[in-house]
Amino acid sequence: MSHIESQNRVLSGMRPTGKLHLGHYHGVLKNWIKLQYEFECMFFVADWHALTTHYEDPSIIEENVWGMVLDWLAAGVNPGSATLFVQSKIPEHAELHLLLSMITPVGWLERVPSYKDLQMRINEKDLATYGFLGYPVLQSSDILIYTAGHVPVGADQAAHVELTRELARRFNHIYGREPGFEKTAEAAIKKMGRKNARLFRNLRTEYLEKGNQEALETARALLRDQPNISMGDSDRLYGYLEGGGKMILPEPETLLTDAATVPGLDGQKMSKSYGNTIALREDPKQVQQKIKTMVTDPARVRRSDPGNPEKCPVFGLHKIYSDDATNEWIREGCTGAGIGCLDCKKPLIEAVLAEQQPMLERAKQYEENPDLVKSIIAEGCENARTLARSTLDEVRQAMGMDYR
Ligand code: TRP
Ligand code: SF4
Repeated sequence: MSHIESQNRVLSGMRPTGKLHLGHYHGVLKNWIKLQYEFECMFFVADWHALTTHYEDPSIIEENVWGMVLDWLAAGVNPGSATLFVQSKIPEHAELHLLLSMITPVGWLERVPSYKDLQMRINEKDLATYGFLGYPVLQSSDILIYTAGHVPVGADQAAHVELTRELARRFNHIYGREPGFEKTAEAAIKKMGRKNARLFRNLRTEYLEKGNQEALETARALLRDQPNISMGDSDRLYGYLEGGGKMILPEPETLLTDAATVPGLDGQKMSKSYGNTIALREDPKQVQQKIKTMVTDPARVRRSDPGNPEKCPVFGLHKIYSDDATNEWIREGCTGAGIGCLDCKKPLIEAVLAEQQPMLERAKQYEENPDLVKSIIAEGCENARTLARSTLDEVRQAMGMDYR
């Protein structure tokens, strides 16, 4: 597959750090589930990334890996549509990480916002490690090894995808200039036939001299439609078009997930570290109990006190789960003290339970037969590995590391 075709590929990963909860579902998984029917999707468990921060308690990783894949499947991630795999089972990520580290300026890594942030925030662990500094290089390898075109992530990860783009650009700049590149590229253009070749050259000039973005797009489309161009030539021309060398590692686009922030039981953002979550596969009795005892507008002490839904995390959840009519009923009932908080919570409990019921049902077969999960992952790893090997071959060759 040429890099132009792989632009249709979506890749994303999650660190296995515990049970997934409603925040993950509404923030990330729903998006994955939608994307899996629109793109070629690859979703993976970033277990090495988990190790960068949890290197002292490795025993929890294995359990979290299988638990997380089960959560994905329960939520509706479809292994028939998406490739699911585990990072550490694809050693090619590690080799690419090493090779990319050779061309990664340390300053780029020190400037990544999450680096200093997390290091300051997490005091109980020593994160002044080589592995943690290299976290974004590993992430870049995850993305580039599959020449993915789109990476769906939340805003907190956007800087990592940006670094990935910079690394790809740097890599192509350093290694994309094979000896005689220009000659090979010009020869490739000729293979398109006289008319198309002329059109392609004009569009290229138009883009390079005037920055005409439309010309670039048209030229790319033209390239995509050429039956006589080999994959290698197509990658060459893709890079040549932009005035660069051969495009070995294409730059991925960030698909920013507008993560609906899900309020937790205490009103803060739902997060494992705050202990305020409802798990994806929470027992229905627990769901009921947790919502019943959930924090409400602190000003509403008695049933007769009017409340303000905008100051109430229960209403925050209703905004995600309930229709306009219900929310209107709450606005009126709460501000006029016409309904009690338990009345208000009842339709929420029902909505959460209704959302989770099919998840619990889907999970059941996998819980009863864990080998099923393992075989899904084994198959996904095999597919992933084939793709990863082919990119790594090209990278090794470009870096002069393919000799025997
Ligand atoms: N760093 C990401 C997170 O913490 C997980 C991740 C690792 C990832 N590799 C990736 C996400 C590659 C997207 C693409 O959420
Ligand atoms: Fe919150 Fe509903 Fe109680 Fe108002 S009625 S305070 S919105 S739980």
